[in-house]
Amino acid sequence: MNSSFFFGKNLLFKTSITKSTFSLENNNLLTKQIRNYSKGKISFYDTALLSKYANQHLKPVSLRQLITYGERPLTREKLLDLTRFSQTELPVRLAKRVVAFHNLPFIVGTNPHVFGVYRLYYEAFERLRVFRLVRNLEEEKVYTKSLLQTIQILSNVIPSIAQGIQECTKYIGKPQKDKFLNDLIWSRIGLRVIGEQQVSLSEQFYEQEDIRNETNLEKKKELGSDIDSAWVGTIHTKLKVAKLFEQSSLFVQNMCELHYGITPEFVIDGDTDIEFSYIPSHLEYMSLEILKNAFRASVEWAIKSQKNGNGSVSEYMFDGSGLKFGDRNKIQPIQITVTKGAGSVCIRIRDCGGGIQPETLARIFEYSFSTYHGDENSHAADDANSSHHGGISLTSNLMMQNGAGGPIAGLGFGIPMTKVYAEYFGGSLDIISVIGHGCDVFLKLPSIDYNVGNLQI
Ligand SMILES: Nc1ncnc2c1ncn2[C@@H]1O[C@H](COP(=O)(O)OP(=O)(O)O)[C@@H](O)[C@H]1O
Ligand SMILES: [Mg+2]
Repeated sequence: MNSSFFFGKNLLFKTSITKSTFSLENNNLLTKQIRNYSKGKISFYDTALLSKYANQHLKPVSLRQLITYGERPLTREKLLDLTRFSQTELPVRLAKRVVAFHNLPFIVGTNPHVFGVYRLYYEAFERLRVFRLVRNLEEEKVYTKSLLQTIQILSNVIPSIAQGIQECTKYIGKPQKDKFLNDLIWSRIGLRVIGEQQVSLSEQFYEQEDIRNETNLEKKKELGSDIDSAWVGTIHTKLKVAKLFEQSSLFVQNMCELHYGITPEFVIDGDTDIEFSYIPSHLEYMSLEILKNAFRASVEWAIKSQKNGNGSVSEYMFDGSGLKFGDRNKIQPIQITVTKGAGSVCIRIRDCGGGIQPETLARIFEYSFSTYHGDENSHAADDANSSHHGGISLTSNLMMQNGAGGPIAGLGFGIPMTKVYAEYFGGSLDIISVIGHGCDVFLKLPSIDYNVGNLQI
């Protein structure tokens, strides 16, 4: 495992957990699976066995316990213990999710996207529950392989469920929709934290064993130097916040350029050396969602201001010759400021994208709420060959299938999901809008070792 670089475990970068999880190939497979499932025959109500599992109480595990399992040296006993815990706990959690799908209005359940995701959860439950508790490392390997496959299959269901729920808005009340999605996302985080911790610790254990068994001293040294002890399973104990935001910003810049043909610059300031303990993939998800909003708002506000020929942005920013490809200097940069508090980190993402109107601001934490309507400003819209899929541009749609951070906008999941991710470990997400100017987004996150070790997952 290449763990010398903290992005090693994340969506944008390579890792044995996520390398294939987010590959285009895999997500095409997922899309295919969802399509096939939507034609499938499974009934929503033919699963008596489910209630046996779904009615069991959860056995919450504390983050501290998960970290303890991963402390080096990793032992066979600790690995088998964690595996058994994951074996008993994950089917119960999956069964509860499947039952939550059953409780949706019938017509919502027949939506192909919703149905497809339901099937993936159902199959994941079936796949994991059949294993008997592992007794040795051979059995552990087989189970962990299946768990990894399950994590990969479930990794990219959000765009599908978002699409499905969006299509069914008129058949489901807002409170029921919000509760269903909040529970789904909240529990999904728990499932993934437990599952991914198990998979990564297993990986780390075998790496450690390879080194221990290596007789060639040179090779042994080389393998040992590859180990980054800052990783404890999926948790990185020295996560460089500014570096992560830089990588995410570069990624969103590319996305923005592809989508609109232009993109703003960004600056990162404050205490750019800050390191803290967090799950990088969680921070990466949050950073991408906040940045996509900031970049989108900046470009759209600039285009709008220019079209209207009024507003401070156009007067201040443009020379009157119009925005062209490569005009990134003419849009105000996104400013990312990183600071450290007592046991926590605060990141402010500031844009000059015109702010949020009060009627929109009141709804931004709602699932499926979006002001993105198709792609009138998009680069792809200029392309005579571009086609559209349910109001989402082809470019975005491909990105959505690619799993590379989802589309630039339109799902209406970015803010509500980022809030759930932030709050999961006791952090917060706040948004301040200055109408006619821009937004400040504050992400406050406690370092997961000090503050929330007792937090139950
Ligand atoms: N920085 C921002 N500036 C202006 N509007 C924003 C900003 N962030 C979010 N919004 C508004 O909040 C809405 C919801 O955001 P989000 O949940 O990320 O969904 P989406 O990006 O898919 O629309 C956006 O459609 C946009 O109208
Ligand atoms: Mg968004």
